[in-house]
Amino acid sequence: MLRAVTAVLGVACFVLVFAVGGEVPRDRQPAHLRRPIALSFTEDGRRLLVANQRSGTISIVDPESLTIRGEPAVGSRLSDLCVLPDGRVLALEESAGELLLLQRKGDDLHVAHRLAVGKSPVTVRAAADGSRACVACLWEHSVAIIELPAGRSPVLGGRIAVPFAPRLLLPLPKDQVLVADSFGGKLAVLDTAMQRVASVRSLPAHNIRGVGVLGRDVVLSHQVLHEDTPTQENEVRWGNIIGNMVRFVPLDDVLRPDADLVRSSRVVGLGEFGHGAADPAGLAVRGGEVVLTIAGTGEVAFGPQSSKDWPRIRVGQGPTAVALAPSGRRAFVANTFSDSLSVICTARHTFEKELSLGLTPPLSPAERGEELFHDGRLSREGWMSCQSCHTDGHSNGGRSDTLGDGSYGAPKRVLSLLGVGDTGPWAWNGSMADLKSQLRQSVRSTMQGEPLTEEQTANLEAFLRTLAPPPGLSGDEGAVRRGKAAFDKLSCNRCHVPPTYTSPRTYDVGVKDEVGKSVFNPPSLRGAGHALAFFHDNRAATLEEVFTRFHHQVPRELSRGEVEDLAAFLRSL
Ligand code: HEC
Ligand code: HEC
Repeated sequence: MLRAVTAVLGVACFVLVFAVGGEVPRDRQPAHLRRPIALSFTEDGRRLLVANQRSGTISIVDPESLTIRGEPAVGSRLSDLCVLPDGRVLALEESAGELLLLQRKGDDLHVAHRLAVGKSPVTVRAAADGSRACVACLWEHSVAIIELPAGRSPVLGGRIAVPFAPRLLLPLPKDQVLVADSFGGKLAVLDTAMQRVASVRSLPAHNIRGVGVLGRDVVLSHQVLHEDTPTQENEVRWGNIIGNMVRFVPLDDVLRPDADLVRSSRVVGLGEFGHGAADPAGLAVRGGEVVLTIAGTGEVAFGPQSSKDWPRIRVGQGPTAVALAPSGRRAFVANTFSDSLSVICTARHTFEKELSLGLTPPLSPAERGEELFHDGRLSREGWMSCQSCHTDGHSNGGRSDTLGDGSYGAPKRVLSLLGVGDTGPWAWNGSMADLKSQLRQSVRSTMQGEPLTEEQTANLEAFLRTLAPPPGLSGDEGAVRRGKAAFDKLSCNRCHVPPTYTSPRTYDVGVKDEVGKSVFNPPSLRGAGHALAFFHDNRAATLEEVFTRFHHQVPRELSRGEVEDLAAFLRSL
């Protein structure tokens, strides 16, 4: 009800402000933080729609005159949008778990239907004929199939579970869809007509943030974390800790479940000595060329697959999405942290103009901290940001050989920062009594960056304290209940104390690292179902293995049922 009222008010404001037609005068624009994150041209190519995550608005841009024609409020937190061939628009309301079907009338959009699609919907893509769409539901590890009958409301046609937290989607021929892992390197191909998973494969990759098709290849932008390389100055400067790359995988191999994608793909590494390319993100394809945003350094790179040398130009802060005008001559880049679009001439690889999406209020310390978290300039020569390892505040699942444990030679898993505010002391060995010391250490010794100022440290900390733990995975209720009883009976809660499921002390539970250390602070078990592997060095591939293979803190061999129940309970946290 409240939401309906807000939406009506939002639309009413919009009508008042924009009814006169023409460009919106600057002094009449509402001042709000927008954080543009997704772009799509309308079916007629005459407008560019910009989904603003934080304001829940969609900016409507005239791509010829480069003016803002309207900014209707359609939700409270948007994560994506796409335009159907008939001109209707699909948008995702992330916090409410809803798909919005929007009707466009001139430079206005209104919500015609809402459909509950599942927890944390992050990407929506429609099939080429517009009869069906898919929505990736991040924390639910599933993809919802939406049927879109012409002229009628959308309906949930089914749901396909995937064995990872999904983010990007790429529609493929024959009702198939490629789904990419949000954190690690898994790729799944789904058959949406049969509603089944056709294949799941792994790439040596994390942070897959851009996907497209170039000729006969699928193009992916991603990173690679080199776990055996210590985060020393020289290694950081040569870009040896994190690889920022573009990968070309033959489409035929993507569609063939038994093809080895690692062997058949070609990779272009971005960045050179003195000029890193932290966090490649959204991409678009024009002719034989990829137009790629580099979120951490505020740049756009252009490249054909045959070249290793991709020219780069500067755009705004945090460019994450790019859309090509139908003519192909211009590209529009969403600068998430400058609340603006950069207009680029694709033929000459030049920057034309920065277009502000409107007035913004002064930023809070946490909002400034969020910008720092995504800023590759915090690292020596721009090779990585906090986001490179702690993807969206979570973890890329890899290991890194940082000085966090006081020495090199024993790489540790990147810890998730979701819920990190109340899980002190920090670091695997619990050596960081306050969060600020950990942040200084991360910049100084992991990223080899300039020391943070007091204000930067406070801002980063304020941001980290806003990160809530992810929702647990739902499972069989009986198993979860039995698992909880076993957890209590086995005294797991001695060290993993609810509600944070950690505790301040350190313990030797017999898991030794490469340099002989075995005393660790119990990791929080909240969000355990979203971890890619377990223990400080990822030695357990699944939650079950923690108990079956490593017998972690169990007095006797547990039965298969007991292990399944315990794992179901841990996944629900
Ligand atoms: C190259 C990968 C990498 C980068 C970049 C990185 N971290 Fe980390 N981070 C790690 C690893 C690995 C650990 C665990 C290290 C350990 O405890 O030995 C960690 C631990 C942490 C922790 C402790 C979490 C806990 O629950 O104890 C915090 C907080 C943190 N990092 C914040 C940051 C911030 C903020 C940035 C950016 C300024 C950053 N990190 C950059 C890899 C990285
Ligand atoms: C004496 C303290 C202690 C007790 C009791 C204990 N744990 Fe742990 N637990 C730890 C420590 C310390 C680690 C980290 C070990 C490492 O990674 O080297 C850990 C790791 C884990 C992990 C892996 C988490 C991750 O993110 O890698 C899981 C799961 C876990 N414990 C579950 C349990 C369960 C279930 C029980 C009861 C059967 C239990 N623990 C009992 C201290 C304890």
